[in-house]
This record gives sequence, structure tokens and C-alpha cells, in this order.
Amino acid sequence: MLFTIVALAGTASVAALTASQAYTPTAGACPAGFSLVRNAGSPATGQTLSPSEAAYIATKRETVLPHAFRTYLDTVVRTQVQLPAYMYNILGSEDPEQMPTVGIATSGGAYRAALFGAGVLNALDGRNESSLERGTGGLLQATSYISGLSGGSWLVYSLAQANFPPVQQLVFGENVEGGYGGWNLEYGTLTLYPSTDDATDAEYMSQTVADITGKYEAGWPVSIVDLLSRSMGRHFLNDTTQSNFFDNSTVHGAGVLFSDLQTVPTIMSREQPFPIVVADGWSKYPYGADGGEALGSLVPPSNVIYEFNAYEMGSYDPQLAAFAPIQYLGTTNESVCITGFEQASFIVGSSSDYYAASNSSYASIMASAGSWITLVNESFTQPGVQLDVALYPNPFQGAGNGSFTEVNETYLSIVDGGNDGQAIPIQPLLVKARAIDTLIAIDVNAEVNNYATGGDFISSATRAALFPEAYSFPPIPLNTSTFVAENLTTRPTFFGCNTPETPLIVYIANGGPPAGQPAVTNTSDDTWTPTLAEAFLDQTFDMATQGITNGTVGARDAEWGACLACAVVDRERYRQGIARSGVCETCLARYCWS
Ligand SMILES: *[C@@H]1O[C@H](CO)[C@@H](O)[C@H](O)[C@H]1NC(C)=O
Ligand SMILES: *[C@@H]1O[C@H](CO)[C@@H](O)[C@H](O)[C@H]1NC(C)=O
Ligand SMILES: *[C@@H]1O[C@H](CO)[C@@H](O)[C@H](O)[C@H]1NC(C)=O
Ligand SMILES: *[C@@H]1O[C@H](CO)[C@@H](O)[C@H](O)[C@H]1NC(C)=O
Ligand SMILES: *[C@@H]1O[C@H](CO)[C@@H](O)[C@H](O)[C@H]1NC(C)=O
Ligand SMILES: *[C@@H]1O[C@H](CO)[C@@H](O)[C@H](O)[C@H]1NC(C)=O
Ligand SMILES: *[C@@H]1O[C@H](CO)[C@@H](O)[C@H](O)[C@H]1NC(C)=O
Ligand SMILES: *[C@@H]1O[C@H](CO)[C@@H](O)[C@H](O)[C@H]1NC(C)=O
Ligand SMILES: *[C@@H]1O[C@H](CO)[C@@H](O)[C@H](O)[C@H]1NC(C)=O
Ligand SMILES: *[C@@H]1O[C@H](CO)[C@@H](O)[C@H](O)[C@H]1NC(C)=O
Ligand SMILES: *[C@@H]1O[C@H](CO)[C@@H](O)[C@H](O)[C@H]1NC(C)=O
Ligand SMILES: *[C@@H]1O[C@H](CO)[C@@H](O)[C@H](O)[C@H]1NC(C)=O
Repeated sequence: MLFTIVALAGTASVAALTASQAYTPTAGACPAGFSLVRNAGSPATGQTLSPSEAAYIATKRETVLPHAFRTYLDTVVRTQVQLPAYMYNILGSEDPEQMPTVGIATSGGAYRAALFGAGVLNALDGRNESSLERGTGGLLQATSYISGLSGGSWLVYSLAQANFPPVQQLVFGENVEGGYGGWNLEYGTLTLYPSTDDATDAEYMSQTVADITGKYEAGWPVSIVDLLSRSMGRHFLNDTTQSNFFDNSTVHGAGVLFSDLQTVPTIMSREQPFPIVVADGWSKYPYGADGGEALGSLVPPSNVIYEFNAYEMGSYDPQLAAFAPIQYLGTTNESVCITGFEQASFIVGSSSDYYAASNSSYASIMASAGSWITLVNESFTQPGVQLDVALYPNPFQGAGNGSFTEVNETYLSIVDGGNDGQAIPIQPLLVKARAIDTLIAIDVNAEVNNYATGGDFISSATRAALFPEAYSFPPIPLNTSTFVAENLTTRPTFFGCNTPETPLIVYIANGGPPAGQPAVTNTSDDTWTPTLAEAFLDQTFDMATQGITNGTVGARDAEWGACLACAVVDRERYRQGIARSGVCETCLARYCWS
């Protein structure tokens, strides 16, 4: 009886909060012993993960990975490809120390990228029978880290917060508990006009403005990212469905905090890969003054790349190498602690704020984001506030190694993780303390015909080379012409087979349809029918499971499942001093770029 009363009281008080109240940060005394900034060190002086992340990974290695890798091994064995003995020994090991560390980085590119990434995850998911038949299913369950930015953050965050459902359920919202309604693909994400009816759109805009009014009235700057945030809440958080999308019967995820991930059941059980959302630091740089322009973007590659995880926000980039606890984001000193700033929808919105890229001139931003700028500017009076970036009180004032350009800023300006020309969120998975063995890089960047040609992957390599003390990147061709000429974007390619100091990168790009199929995965829509989304996922499944083919219609590499598993065990094989052999020797000869 007592429990019932408590539960009801809890529900009632939550329901009583309006979206605007739930979205408003609050201030209070900091807890005893509160520490605002964690210095993450450097590989040379001793780099550390947060204690919570370290515990997450250690527990996962002990309680999840041995079973997950054994199950994955069974899948690979089902393909009847003869495997070298070391594959059985490593994937079948009971020893947490021998477990390979796998990370997946899934790229930006709005819904196209979210769907393509989802299709690849489906191909790696041990819950899908077709994926088991192809010999790739089960690797997702054995993956330690997953990072996403922009459209990829929609996938990574929604998957994590919805308690890790299979992607068909994630995307379409069928059979998921907790009121989660799927991505609501039939309504646009990056628009203030998601319906086809003017009155509905007007009401939608007034609701999203109302949602962020409490934050503004409490003295926080609000920008177009707060409006975008409320769109993200309606698409990628629990509680919004197709039928309640436009009404205010729910708060559409206002008040859901990024740190709430800590209590999602499959995060608590460590069954999920550790989720990371990536966004870029924007600095007051003279436009076109350096390499940022060369990369075709506004954010220079030397800017800090930030990550948000269930426990903290910050960066391992050496000029900062510091983190702040995520549940107190908004806090700038150790006496007054802010809570409720870390709205999950705001963080996903920050990662997806591509509008700042247009701010090379007032005219160009008004052309691309004029309606957003106008709505926020007309709704709130904030002279001097930059309206096209996400504004975070800067917890890192005075931090960094002397080269941190925002050291004196009151607010950090944060923009889309792809604004630095790096659509694949690879940087967190290069962090040495994370010791990633195999990095699956999913590239859905739109370069030619909305297909990837390797350009943003190249930008990740050149950016890593700016910080040689922090990151090691395997050799890759530095010209997109080579990617295209060698078909590296239309077949999975391994990089770093002979550089054990780097992760081995399994590069899977959206470079073109399988032989004989129409072009589906280069669609770049903001609204989707279930039929098109389903066709998209199915084609992605074929692209992720065909391997290298001879180009005839329907052809597949029957050894692809085994070859991928060879890439997964390769670093641990090396550590054990075993030579590559059998199918792994031929697979790596075939899939490695040299
Ligand atoms: C979303 O709903 C799922 C299913 O009920 C639940 O497990 C998960 O914890 C919820 N996520 C958040 C962030 O509350
Ligand atoms: C919900 O929307 C209706 C119609 O716009 C409005 O009258 C009402 O005040 C709103 N309720 C809340 C709690 O915002
Ligand atoms: C700080 O780190 C940056 C990036 O690695 C480096 O270029 C710079 O020299 C460092 N500054 C100092 C003072 O160590
Ligand atoms: C700490 O930060 C709060 C704002 O969050 C501010 O009001 C307060 O003055 C600051 N205290 C000190 C000692 O700087
Ligand atoms: C915002 O509104 C003010 C006052 O109307 C106007 O002066 C200013 O130019 C507007 N800013 C933008 C970015 O539209
Ligand atoms: C665009 O950037 C400039 C330079 O930082 C800034 O002054 C201006 O407010 C920005 N424009 C908008 C509309 O946010
Ligand atoms: C930060 O402020 C200090 C002290 O005023 C100054 O020496 C330093 O140059 C400033 N750094 C930046 C990047 O603005
Ligand atoms: C998709 O790619 C095909 C070529 O394969 C091209 O004809 C088509 O225009 C592309 N679609 C889009 C939307 O870019
Ligand atoms: C890339 O390769 C193409 C074709 O070989 C060549 O024309 C082009 O100059 C190269 N670009 C760069 C930046 O090296
Ligand atoms: C690239 O793919 C095409 C079509 O399948 C094929 O004709 C060509 O030989 C391939 N090129 C290389 C270098 O593999
Ligand atoms: C498994 O993946 C295939 C390929 O995308 C899809 O058609 C099928 O519906 C999926 N099965 C389940 C149970 O999700
Ligand atoms: C291409 O590979 C498929 C198997 O995936 C095979 O059936 C077919 O005969 C091959 N075609 C050629 C021309 O080698």
C-alpha cells in the first residue's frame, strides 16, 4: 500500500510540471565534496576515464562480454567457414582480460544517417535472425562503445534511452514499452512546420516557444537550439507518438535529463554499448582564417570536440583534457550547483545544430535558418546573445593546458558535431584510455549524389594528426578520388591491419546500392513513409552484409561474417603473439587497404 501511495504521489507531481517548468534549470547548494572539473590527463602523463565509465566497462567485460562474444562466435560458426583456432580461443574465452574492445562510430547526415546507422546496427544485432544467418549478428551485443553525432546522435541517444530495443522497434515504435513512439518519421525534425496544416504548425511553434520560456525567464540564454531541442524531444525521447505529437497531453520529454541514462535498465545491466554523443566547440574565429575553411566548414579542426556521456561532458583533446559531471551541467563554481540544464533533447539538439555552419554571413544564415532565428528573436529579448549556437555555461573557465581558446568564456558555444567537416564521431573512440581494438566507422556523409566518398573520414585522419600525442590513426588514402576509384565506399574496408598502435578500423560507407538495386539510401528527406524507411533499412542490411562481391546481382562474400570476426579478434591475437592464419589471413589480405 505504501508503495502505491508513493508511486501515485510521484506520478502526480511529475504530471503537474508543465513542459516549461520541467525544462527550466534550477540552482541549489552543491553537494559536500563537489568537484566541478576532472582533469583527464594525457597519454604521456597518465590519462584517466571517469570512475563511472571505468566501472561500466570493467563490469561489462566481466558480466556481459564473455557470454556476448561466445554467442557471436556461434553465429560466425553457423556460416560454416572454417575458423582458425585462435578465433575460438579468443571469442570463447572466459577471461575478461582477453575480451576485444569494439567501438562503433555512426555518422551524421540527418534521418538518412540515422536510418543507415540503424540498418548497420540491425545487421550486427544478435536478435535479428537474418543477421545471424549472415554471420554478423551478435557483434552489437559484444560492442563496448557507440558514438553518434547529429543524425547519428538521434540513433545513439534514442536507442540508449529506449532501453536498447531492436532497431525495427526503435524506428517504428512498435511493441516498445514506456510510451516510446518511434522516430515519428512522418513529421520533419529540422523544421518549424512539421505538419501540413498551417494552424497546427502555428500551434506547434507556440508550444515549443512556451516549452523554453521558463528557461529564459530564469535568466538563461535561449537560442534556436532550444527550439530544435523541443523537436528532438518529440522524435527521439519517450512519450511522444504519432497521435500525441501535436498536442500538449505530454511534455514531450521536457525534464528528461541526459544523466537519466544512468537508470535505464540495460545501461544498469551494462548490456548496452557505452553511449556517447559528440558536438563541436565553436570559437570566435575570423571566418576563413584557417583550415576550417579548407575543410569546407566553419569550425576549424583545432577546435575542441566535446562528448556527452551518461556521467560527464568534456573532451580528451589535449588543449582541454577535462570533464564536468553531466548532472550538474550549467554549473560554473563549486558552491552553487545547477541541475536540470542537461536536458537530453537539448544535448541531442546541440549535436544536430548544423545551422551555425550557415553563419558565415547574416544573409546566409537567414536563408537557411531564418524562420528559427526570427522565432527565437521575436519571442525573447536577448541583446548580444548569439542565436545560432547552443550556449552552455562554461565549467572549464581557467582549465586546459594554456591553448584552450574558451578558457575565459562565460558560455561555451556548441554546434553540430559535423560542422568541423568530420561527420563520423571517431575522436572519442581514439582516446587511448579507452583502448579500442576495432572501430567500426559508419560514413553516411553526403558528398556526391548524397553518397559518401570518404571526405569526412579523411578529415578525421588529418585532425587526429594535429594531436599526435593524443591520437593514433591508421594510414588511409588522403584523396577521395582514391576512395572512389578503389571502391572503398561501396565495400567494407579495413584500415590499420599492420599498425597495432592504432585501432583497426572497419570502414562501412554509404557509397552506392548493391549491384542491381535501385538507389534508396541516398535519399535525404526530413519526412519518410514507413515503406521508404523499411526499404532503406533493408538495403542497408544488404550493404552491411554483402562484403566484397564480384559485382553480379545478388552476389555476396560468404566469408564476410568470418572476415569481420577476424577484424574483431585481430588486436587480441597480436597481443597473444599468434600469427594470423587460415581464413583470417586471406580475409585480411582481401579487406585491408594497403
Ligand atoms: C524510456 O522508456 C523505456 C521503456 O519503458 C525505459 O526503460 C527507459 O528507462 C525510459 N528512458 C528514460 C530516459 O527515462
Ligand atoms: C495545451 O494546449 C491548449 C491549446 O493550445 C492550451 O489551451 C492549454 O493551455 C495548454 N496546456 C498547457 C498545460 O500548456
Ligand atoms: C596544449 O595542447 C595543444 C594540443 O595538443 C598543443 O598544441 C599545445 O602545444 C599544448 N600547449 C602547452 C602549453 O602545452
Ligand atoms: C557561482 O555561480 C552562481 C551561478 O550559477 C553565481 O550566482 C554565484 O555568484 C557564483 N559564486 C561564486 C562564488 O562565484
Ligand atoms: C533581433 O531583433 C532585434 C530587435 O528587433 C533586431 O534589432 C535584430 O537585428 C534581430 N536579430 C536577428 C539576428 O535577427
Ligand atoms: C553570426 O555570427 C556572428 C559572429 O560571431 C554573431 O555576431 C552573430 O550574432 C551571429 N548571427 C546570428 C544570427 O546568430
Ligand atoms: C584569458 O585571460 C587571461 C587573463 O586575463 C589572459 O592572460 C589570456 O590571454 C586569456 N586567454 C584567452 C584565450 O583569451
Ligand atoms: C541517388 O543516386 C543516384 C545515382 O546512383 C542519382 O541518380 C540520384 O539523383 C541520387 N539521389 C539523390 C537524392 O541524390
Ligand atoms: C586527388 O586525385 C585526383 C586524381 O588522381 C587528382 O586529380 C587530384 O589532384 C588529387 N587531389 C589532391 C588534393 O591530391
Ligand atoms: C570497382 O567496382 C566495379 C563495379 O563492381 C568493378 O568493375 C571494378 O573492377 C572495381 N574496382 C576495383 C579497383 O576493385
Ligand atoms: C531483420 O532485418 C531484416 C533486414 O533489414 C528485416 O527485414 C527484418 O524485419 C528484421 N527482423 C526483425 C525481427 O526485426
Ligand atoms: C559472383 O559471385 C556469386 C556468388 O556470390 C556467384 O554465384 C557467381 O557465379 C559469381 N559470378 C562470377 C562472374 O564470378
